[in-house]
Amino acid sequence: MNTKDPFLMGYSATAVAHPNIAFIKYWGNRDESLNLPSNGSISMNLGDLRAQTKVTFSSELSEDVLSINHIIAGHNAHQRMSAILDNIRQKAKISLYARVESILNFPTGTGIASSAAGFAALAKAAVHAAGLDFNEIEISRLARLGSGSACRSVPGGFVEWQKGESDNTSYATSIFSAEHWDLYDVIIVLQKTPKKVGSKAGHILANTSPLQASRVQDSSRRLEICRKAIKERDFSSLANIIELDSNMMHAITMTSNPPLLYWEAGSLELMHAVPKWRTEGLHVAYTIDAGPNVHLICQPEDVNEIKKRATALVNPQEILLSTIGGPAYIVRTK
Ligand code: PMV
Repeated sequence: MNTKDPFLMGYSATAVAHPNIAFIKYWGNRDESLNLPSNGSISMNLGDLRAQTKVTFSSELSEDVLSINHIIAGHNAHQRMSAILDNIRQKAKISLYARVESILNFPTGTGIASSAAGFAALAKAAVHAAGLDFNEIEISRLARLGSGSACRSVPGGFVEWQKGESDNTSYATSIFSAEHWDLYDVIIVLQKTPKKVGSKAGHILANTSPLQASRVQDSSRRLEICRKAIKERDFSSLANIIELDSNMMHAITMTSNPPLLYWEAGSLELMHAVPKWRTEGLHVAYTIDAGPNVHLICQPEDVNEIKKRATALVNPQEILLSTIGGPAYIVRTK
């Protein structure tokens, strides 16, 4: 890790990162402040969805300023951003505050991992703007401080987050490139309004569920099955393991104290229909994050039929479509 003089590098940089959809989900932390997870996780980046974030360190600022889609962000997002920026300031030996402007091309706060994309782009851009020569692992660790799953939006393609033992060893790396398997995510948006209880609060409640310990204990087995299914491009095996893992995460949320019920009627209708569609020959599987919206992971030849069937079944507010995507990248410096 080398530091360069930020004056020479320029104080501003813009990065793009994609959200990711977890196949094996992160739910619950061993350390809340560092987002050290209870279990490892695997995800796929969503290349057609983007957060573009510009970071400008400036002597004209008296505090950090964060805007998301041109609106000044609330205390929670601000605090998480500062955890990343403070770390960078300390390592780059600068004391300037930063203006952070993030623009997303998809809805925020609805279980479509907007925070993952936002914090991954922020970490990537801020490291560059501060003139730090960090590798992908170091940037992944930094992004994790904003939101855990953001560490998985730094590398590209299919990504695994090693739970690690400490801040140094908990980061994500690509296990297969985006070119390895052409998968799509058809996102059935049932609700665009932000969810009532965010994932941060959900992680804190995870250990109040009597089921969390066995879910965590079984996680290496699920990770192994998922890795193998991706490696062998075995859709049927992938479908079974991601649906199981999604159901297990929601079993935790539903049995936490207080319980969190993220599904809506439409989520459940799709959960009934999708395994049936598989028996009819479609390559499709459902997975649901901390919100009601349903991600339908599928192969390209089935995208149109899946959109048609889902529209007829649940009349969604919107359908977002994304193919698998690459790593976070710099689009502009200075
Ligand atoms: O990174 P967070 O705090 O937004 O938590 C993400 C939680 C899930 O999206 C539900 C699961 C995951 O692994 O992405």
